[in-house]
Amino acid sequence: MMHSMHAWAPAFALALAACSGSSQPSASTSAASSTAAVPAKAATTSTAAPKQAVAKTFTPPPIDAIPDTPFGKMVREGRAIFMDTQTHAKAYVGNGLRCSNCHLDAGRLANAAPMWAAWGMYPTYRSKNGHVNTFAERLQGCFRYSMNGKAPPPDSPVIVALESYVYWMSKGAPTGVALAGRGYPKKGFKPPQPPDYARGQHVFETNCALCHGKDGQGQKAAGRYVFPPLWGPQSFNWGAGMHKLDNAAAFIKANMPLGRGGMLSDQDAWDVALFMNAHERPQDPRFTGSVAETRKKFHHSKMSLYGTVVNGHLLGSGSPR
Ligand code: HEC
Ligand code: HEC
Repeated sequence: MMHSMHAWAPAFALALAACSGSSQPSASTSAASSTAAVPAKAATTSTAAPKQAVAKTFTPPPIDAIPDTPFGKMVREGRAIFMDTQTHAKAYVGNGLRCSNCHLDAGRLANAAPMWAAWGMYPTYRSKNGHVNTFAERLQGCFRYSMNGKAPPPDSPVIVALESYVYWMSKGAPTGVALAGRGYPKKGFKPPQPPDYARGQHVFETNCALCHGKDGQGQKAAGRYVFPPLWGPQSFNWGAGMHKLDNAAAFIKANMPLGRGGMLSDQDAWDVALFMNAHERPQDPRFTGSVAETRKKFHHSKMSLYGTVVNGHLLGSGSPR
């Protein structure tokens, strides 16, 4: 994908330049330089511009609409787990993260993988595990990988509470319809140039280290993370969706620095995603005993740096951060 974009970009730029003729040379220049960004922007960043035919969006009900009933109690419990997974589902968590670190505003924010856009899309086939997954199994996946923990049993109180919260939040959302704002906006989101570690490090130091720490290990206050770790032993593991460059770049572009999403250029977002994911993190729980074999089986993708060598270190082999 990255390659085809490369081959296309200059041709597209030339075509634009040729068409615009003498009328607006400066416009053609800027269009050319942001060519790779065009499809991504048009297709995704749209909180305000639902122009796409498929782009129906959805607004979840306000929190104070949670009813005062036994069901409402379960919804509140699910919300508590989602926002403070460490306290409310401790047995299943193996790192310093919480669900809402990556699913912002307690799973309500568009373009931050909101829960209301997920609910109506399950059960679905996932190539990650090669079968049809229920919503419960999808939740289990984020515990196992993103939270580097253990999957709660499908009918356990933790899963029932999370399902109740998500179901409540999705009231009135259509089923089987890909709503605008689902996931992270990565469709057609390509790096103008191949992502680069040194440039990414610069972006990190300038835009991220202030909150996430110079060493990417996050920051704590009173024993709790206020800024989550981006790599290292307390972060998501090598099996998590966020370790893939496209997910990370899209999440970062739309949502980071926190509160200033959309500020980074596409190139900066890809570069810093590569820098972040070129560091060690907990082992993939599907590890077969060999990094090379694990890469072959589960990471056979340009979007995964697992099993590749960066700065002389084999990623996935542990230790150096
Ligand atoms: C480190 C970041 C991270 C954390 C922490 C995390 N997730 Fe996720 N989650 C992701 C990514 C990445 C995806 C895939 C998004 C995509 O494909 O665009 C995802 C997807 C999902 C989906 C499916 C969304 C959809 O539209 O199909 C659900 C449901 C989900 N997560 C629930 C949870 C729950 C519950 C927790 C806490 C127990 C959690 N996640 C913690 C990163 C995270
Ligand atoms: C102003 C502080 C701040 C800045 C600057 C900032 N972040 Fe974050 N970031 C946060 C907070 C807080 C969260 C968790 C959000 C939540 O829980 O609501 C977060 C979450 C994340 C996550 C998902 C959770 C995890 O630990 O993996 C990633 C990835 C991330 N940030 C990357 C970045 C990158 C890359 C930059 C620089 C481009 C950056 N952030 C800049 C505050 C910041």
